[in-house]
Amino acid sequence: MFHDYEKRIDFFVGYPVESPILENLFSEFAGLSEDHMKQINVGIIGFGTVGAGTYEVLTTNREIITNRVGARVVVRRIADLDIETDRGVPEKPDPEVFTTNAMDVILDPEIDVVVELMGGLDKAREFILKAMESGKHVITANKALLAEFGWEIYREAERCGVTLAFEASVGGGIPIIGALKTGLSGNRIQSCMGILNGTSNYILTKMARENLSFETAVEAAVALGFAEDPPTLDVDGTDAAHKLAIMMSIAFGGAIDFDQVFREGIVAITPDDIRFAREFGYHIKLLAIAKDLGNKLEARVHPVMIPKNHILANVHEAFNAIFLEGDFVGPTLYYGLGAGRKPTGSAVVSDIISLARDLVAEKRGMVPPLGHVHPSETAISIQPMDELITSYYFRVSALDTPGVLSTISGILAQKGISIYSVIQKGRDRKGSVPIVMLTHEARESEVREAIRLIDDLDVVTDKTVVIRVEGNNL
Ligand code: HSE
Repeated sequence: MFHDYEKRIDFFVGYPVESPILENLFSEFAGLSEDHMKQINVGIIGFGTVGAGTYEVLTTNREIITNRVGARVVVRRIADLDIETDRGVPEKPDPEVFTTNAMDVILDPEIDVVVELMGGLDKAREFILKAMESGKHVITANKALLAEFGWEIYREAERCGVTLAFEASVGGGIPIIGALKTGLSGNRIQSCMGILNGTSNYILTKMARENLSFETAVEAAVALGFAEDPPTLDVDGTDAAHKLAIMMSIAFGGAIDFDQVFREGIVAITPDDIRFAREFGYHIKLLAIAKDLGNKLEARVHPVMIPKNHILANVHEAFNAIFLEGDFVGPTLYYGLGAGRKPTGSAVVSDIISLARDLVAEKRGMVPPLGHVHPSETAISIQPMDELITSYYFRVSALDTPGVLSTISGILAQKGISIYSVIQKGRDRKGSVPIVMLTHEARESEVREAIRLIDDLDVVTDKTVVIRVEGNNL
């Protein structure tokens, strides 16, 4: 570290001795000498995958981080109910660092920042509020807590005059919160489409590439260690909806009523749907979508058929990607690992570094938690799903009898839904056939009504699968 500063001093040798530039430089240098260097003390609650990842980043890259912050960042305490199991971090924490009591972290007067990585709702909420009340800055990766009860936490951070940061809550290692809060802050955000759940993306990739059933692909995904507990939260769209709600609060500057975010999972998708989608020129992805419609927002998470040459159609395995459009910047794309020990640890540490820089400068963070000084506490209006207008894919399972296709197309015509393309495949063993169609743009309420009528037909043998189409206008 000194080495770099010596170089900078060499660079300034041409300045007169009384130069303010040199004075500043020397005082900066003095502040960084080992004797005078500040220390930022971190307390971690939760030493699971992300906690261990955070510790590993802080210790492995200690020197780089010290240089970037201008202070030592030290993990002073780690609280977890299990302090015996070896987490496999290269530099073992001193046994005295560990405690089974989170209050030992929260109430330690030496600790500057509490990093909540235990997950869950009630206890995590209690610990975060208590930490703020005790004057600690808080960093969390807890997307469910922020999406469902974030407002109380943002308000408490403001009241207590502490920093709240949550880069790791969305997109794992992808610095998307920072992009929204600072990089794109000159823009009105027009739309956001994201693959925000690595587990679902992995399942859909496996089903597409290896023709696996949904159930077998879930087992493979859970073995990766990315899945929520229970994995239902991944496959039913809840996890992606949590992340979307957090991004929307920043992008649109206000509270999002999580219950208004539409969510539908990938449970009904079969390898057949993936194959048919491909025949039409599409891939199936679980997308989280938000759009600014002027006086209201679209907010929805569901499987989507997206043209196979679209950038998001080519995001595979457990990768996440977020496609954001701003009124001045235009389209932007963020891609990376959305989960896992190291990427998520990297995101937590970025928050620690940012906070530590503020502490070194002895000033409160300039960027508020949601990137707005006065975010709207009144929930932003979200368009009811019934009003959505988009194109659709239907897979109807029907007996192969004369007139079936015309009965189905009659119902669609009655509801004003125009067919763009139809494929009918040969009989399967049960004697029913898949009738697969793509529609032109239609209104969701009419589509639901049409599907209800179609599913009521005697010749229809199973519930019709409906997938919305995104990324082009049929
Ligand atoms: N269960 C999440 C996923 C982990 O699969 O993306 C990261 O939030």
